[in-house]
Amino acid sequence: MQTACLVVRESRPLHGTTTLTGAKNAALVMMASLILTRGKSILYNVPFSTDIRHMAQLLQQLGAELFYDKDMQTLYVDTAHIRHYHVEYAMMKKMRASVLVMGPLLARFGTVSIALPGGCVIGDRPINYHLQSFEKMGAQITQVGEMISATISKAHSADIILEYPSVGATENILMLAVQTEGITRIVNAALEPEVLDFIVLLQKMGAHISIVPPATIEIEGVDELRPIEHTVINDRLEAGSLLLAAAITGGVIHLPNAPARSLELFLYKLQEMGHSVIIGQDNIGITLHATQEPKAVSFKTGPHPSFPTDLQAPMMVAQVVADGESVIEETVFESRLLHVRELQKMGAHITVEHNRAIVRGIEKLYGGPVIATDIRASCALVLAGLVAQGTTIITGIHHWRRGYHDLEGKLRHLGANIEIVGGQSIIFQDELRELKDVVL
Ligand code: UD1
Repeated sequence: MQTACLVVRESRPLHGTTTLTGAKNAALVMMASLILTRGKSILYNVPFSTDIRHMAQLLQQLGAELFYDKDMQTLYVDTAHIRHYHVEYAMMKKMRASVLVMGPLLARFGTVSIALPGGCVIGDRPINYHLQSFEKMGAQITQVGEMISATISKAHSADIILEYPSVGATENILMLAVQTEGITRIVNAALEPEVLDFIVLLQKMGAHISIVPPATIEIEGVDELRPIEHTVINDRLEAGSLLLAAAITGGVIHLPNAPARSLELFLYKLQEMGHSVIIGQDNIGITLHATQEPKAVSFKTGPHPSFPTDLQAPMMVAQVVADGESVIEETVFESRLLHVRELQKMGAHITVEHNRAIVRGIEKLYGGPVIATDIRASCALVLAGLVAQGTTIITGIHHWRRGYHDLEGKLRHLGANIEIVGGQSIIFQDELRELKDVVL
C-alpha cells in the first residue's frame, strides 16, 4: 500500500473565514480525568485526531465505554465499569499524554502500572516531576526498565514545588490531589489555557481548586467527584497555524471563535512583523490582514504566557520568508529544531547553535520531498509548502493526523492547494465498541 503523504502546492493568498475545533491538549487530559468519576460524561468540541482516538482506546482497554459522534464532535464516556489499572506497553507508546492516566488511576484504585510514555521526539521528555510528586503524596514507585508501577494506600496532601511549570505534571498532580484529604499546593504550576479549562472541568466534577497568583494552585480534597458535561476550549494552536497560513501567503483570514487572550504574545509578534491583527469583542475572534512586506522578528519560547513552543516551528516558516534576520530560541524542549533540516532542504537559510536558530529571510522556498518529525513540524512543512515553488511532498503524516482535525480541509477551504494522497483513511467509530443508550 502506498504510504500516505501530504501534497502541498504553491497557493494563492488565503482568504476567508473558518471556525476552530476543540483543543487536543485540553481534550486529552479531560478524557483521562473521567477515570476519577463513575458514570456517564459528555465532552463537546472534541477534535477528531489520532491522539484522541488513542486515548479513547486506552480508556476502553481500562473498561470504559465510549461513543464518538463525529458530526457533532461529541464524545460520550461511561466510566462506571473501569476495572483495570494496567495500561499496555504498546498503548503507552502511542502518545505522551498516556502518562496522564497515572494520577487518576492511582486515585481510583490506589495502584497503577504503565510504561514510559511515547510521543513526539522533541527532547528527552522525562516524567520525573510526575513521579517525584506522587512520591511526595505517599506513592511507592518501582521502575524496572521502561515499566513503572505505583501504589498508594492513603494519599496525603503536600506542598509540591515544580522546578519547571510542566503542563503534564501539573495536570497529573491535580488529578491525584482532588480526592486527597487536606490541601495540596502546586507551586510554580503550569497555567496554560488548556490547564485552566481543565480546572474548570474538575470544578464541575465537584473539586475544590483555586489559583493563587502568581502561579500556585491550591486543591482541597473532596470525597467524591461526579460525571460532567463540558465543552472543550477552542484550539489556540490551530488558530495560530491558520493565522500564519494567511500571513505567509499574504492573505486575509477571519477566525470568529479564536481565543485571542490565549495568544497574546504570538499576536503581538505577528503585528511586529507588520501584519494587521484585529481582535473581536470580549477577546473572541481574530482577523488578520497580511502585510505584503513582512519583517523578520526574533522570539523565544517559554511557559504560558510566553511564546508557545507548539507554535515555534510554524512561526519559524514565517521568518524564513520575511525580510531580515530572526533569532529563535527554544527553551521548553531541547531537541525541538528538527524541522530546520527539512526547511533547509527547501532552500531556507537557517543556522542552528544549540537551542537557537538564526534565520535569514529569503525570497523563495522550493518544494520537494520532506519528512515531518513531530506534530508541529508537520504543520511547519505544510506552511512552507504553501509558499514554495513547485510541489512539496510531506511524509510522516501520522504526526499531522495525531495533532489536527481536518486542518487540511480548512486550509483548502481558504484557497490552499493541499491534499492527502495514499494510505488508509482513519476509522474511529469502528474501533470503538458502541455505547448504547447514552443518557445523562
Ligand atoms: C504539553 C503539551 C505539548 C506542549 C508542552 C509545553 C499535551 C498533551 N502536550 O506537553 O503540546 O508542547 O506541554 O507547553 O498537553 N519535564 C521534565 N520532567 C517532567 C515533565 C516535564 O523535565 O516530569 C520537562 C520537559 O522535558 C520539557 C518541559 O519540562 O522540557 C515542559 O514539558 P511539559 O510542560 O511537561 O510538556 P508536556 O506536558 O509533555
